[in-house]
Amino acid sequence: MRTSADYLLPRTTGEARRLQLQSELLREATETLLGALDISESPSCIDIGCGTGDVMLLMAQKYGDRARIVGLDLDTGPATARFAAAASAPRFELVQRDLFSATPLPGAPFGLTFSRYLLHHAPDPVAALTRMWELTADGGTLAVLDLDQRGTTTYPLWPPYEQIESWIRALYVKTGIDNHIGHKLPHLFERAGIGKPDGTKVVGVIRTIAELAEFLPLLLDMIRGKLVDHAVATQHEIDRVGAELATAPQLTSTYCYRPTAVGVWKQKRA
Ligand SMILES: C[S@@+](CC[C@H](N)C(=O)[O-])C[C@H]1O[C@@H](n2cnc3c(N)ncnc32)[C@H](O)[C@@H]1O
Repeated sequence: MRTSADYLLPRTTGEARRLQLQSELLREATETLLGALDISESPSCIDIGCGTGDVMLLMAQKYGDRARIVGLDLDTGPATARFAAAASAPRFELVQRDLFSATPLPGAPFGLTFSRYLLHHAPDPVAALTRMWELTADGGTLAVLDLDQRGTTTYPLWPPYEQIESWIRALYVKTGIDNHIGHKLPHLFERAGIGKPDGTKVVGVIRTIAELAEFLPLLLDMIRGKLVDHAVATQHEIDRVGAELATAPQLTSTYCYRPTAVGVWKQKRA
């Protein structure tokens, strides 16, 4: 059985940089979701699976100095490093822990429980949502953002990108990761006993391949080991595609439609 400890991605500075670049791609979707929530005062917030802490920085921008902002992750190293460079960092609290840990979480329950791109990694997404709902105070809100990979493509079609995404799809099937989970979130909210969501926001992002020139080689490097381990691709095939990515900076008129980001939220009636 897959557990939280089997997290797919490596704990490296390259992965931290990839997450930061991915944060930029997810910024509009995150701000759209935060903007849709009916939260009038500065809430106590928690970001589950905070990664580099980029969502915590957006929360601080939105809710101001009075908000208490906690980040929880299996590995808080990337957020610690990121906050070392951010002026507002001292008021952030980081908790290095599994979401499913039985140890009581200081400050729980929260006015806003948020989680971005964790759920597709969760071995049991319904159990993860149930746990997030437990961490949400009466009158508070649970908001989750996750991906739907189906639509991602390039135009004009650029084979190296299509190859990487096709490998990711195959790897996800082999490792039990659900790459359509964004679309399923409303149903999963119901299955977790949260009920029908109050709302959904679906945001697509288009960038030129040139704009993704740093992101794509990092993405390929982060999954390289797993692609080989799970016999999805050989080192030789990965090296060939990696070499083709070198032309990315010149592709200023090839447009990439990234995986769609789906945001879903629910307020817990007091
Ligand atoms: C794909 S990253 C997303 C990071 C961040 N939310 C973002 O959007 O930039 C998923 C994060 O969830 C964390 N994570 C995965 N399973 C977890 C669990 N069971 N408990 C706590 N954190 C978890 C990972 O360590 C990783 O930092």
